[in-house]
Amino acid sequence: MDYNEMKSKLEEYNQMQILKAYDRADEKTKKELECQIERIDFKQVADLFETTKNEINFNNDVIESIAYVDKEKLNEEDYKKYLEIGEKAIKDGKYSVVTMAGGQGTRLGHSGPKGTFDIGLDSHKSIFEILIDTLKENNEKYGVIIPWYVMTGKENHEDTVKFFEDNNYFGYDKNSIKFFQQGKLPMCDESGKILINEQGVIKEAADGHGGIFQSMKKNGITEDMEKRGVEWAFVGPVDNVLVKMVDPILLGIMIDKKVLAGGKSTVKANPSEKVGVFCRRNGKPGVVEYTEITQEMAERVDENGELVFGESHINCNMFNVKVIEEVANKNLPYHIAHKKASFIDENGNLVVPEKPNAYKFESFIFDAFDMLDDMAILRVKREEEFAPVKNAAGTDSPETAKKLYLDYYNNLKK
Ligand code: UTP
Repeated sequence: MDYNEMKSKLEEYNQMQILKAYDRADEKTKKELECQIERIDFKQVADLFETTKNEINFNNDVIESIAYVDKEKLNEEDYKKYLEIGEKAIKDGKYSVVTMAGGQGTRLGHSGPKGTFDIGLDSHKSIFEILIDTLKENNEKYGVIIPWYVMTGKENHEDTVKFFEDNNYFGYDKNSIKFFQQGKLPMCDESGKILINEQGVIKEAADGHGGIFQSMKKNGITEDMEKRGVEWAFVGPVDNVLVKMVDPILLGIMIDKKVLAGGKSTVKANPSEKVGVFCRRNGKPGVVEYTEITQEMAERVDENGELVFGESHINCNMFNVKVIEEVANKNLPYHIAHKKASFIDENGNLVVPEKPNAYKFESFIFDAFDMLDDMAILRVKREEEFAPVKNAAGTDSPETAKKLYLDYYNNLKK
């Protein structure tokens, strides 16, 4: 793309601040900007910016509860049946794990990838090592090596790969771990102008965990799974130190009921807890955000006194590989996050805002659920499977996660 082509493209989309940044840049930065200007879909960014002006209206959606299975309440016969089916698939090498580690971890404020964070255990193990420990345990139990796919983002890809290399993959089979990068989208200011970052190039941010389906396909991950004979993938977050990545019961239920997708829930701590919950939206599986339901709905209980909308989505889902490929062929909607983002202004000066000044566009994994015919939901115990690391201090912090982790393992020993 030559200078004039770039200029007319940027003029068309009213993004001339990018050309000013180009004019100021050194040769290396110019090259990077050229690649970005060629690659970025400016029409898409303009359209996304337009959506920041719309009010989202869910009023017409019909939101109902969704059936779930409570793991604790399964009778012995069903438990045994699902366990056998699930374990067989794992032993046959049909199971894999995908970890979403492409987030920015802004709330935690750790400078490296979230998975490299030390939550303060005596062993000083990083979150990645904690996760790898559970995979190793399962490998031993089932006599397999479960392929592990780690999704990174533009900002943390190199650091993540280097961390594994420096630590010799924590003794895991190197060929069974694959890293792949998720997509990214430019950030823009409140007037729709795309921001320039501290390096003098276009500021891009991860496009949300919903980007996982397309990035898995684009980066040959689903192809790799098929080559290995893998049919199922658990897709979970990096930031839950009790994440149970290998769950033969959920897998067994899905295979038995011929459902190609599943999700784990924990029961809402209280009706006003700020979490998304599984639901049926217009008849399809979905997640309803706490901002979308009325207090009456949040507090509604069934004949057993259980919350009708009480199954929190903890971002632990399972998919058949075919489903991942199918969803990858479609586009998920983007949500808008209003964020604080430093940038270089038109005069070349660094601006560090004190309040949100920019829009980031993200898709969410659960927006894919309404493309599915059905989903198996398994309610699991919060204290056994949910110890999130989100904030630097207070709730869902390294301190609370460490306590939950230690309590869980101490209880197991009893
Ligand atoms: P969150 O959205 O809760 O957190 O991601 P975050 O991005 O890590 O941190 P904040 O919001 O900036 O503080 C939940 C999970 O989804 C992954 C995260 O790595 C985490 O495991 N994720 C999130 C991605 O892989 N990519 C994304 O674009 C966003």
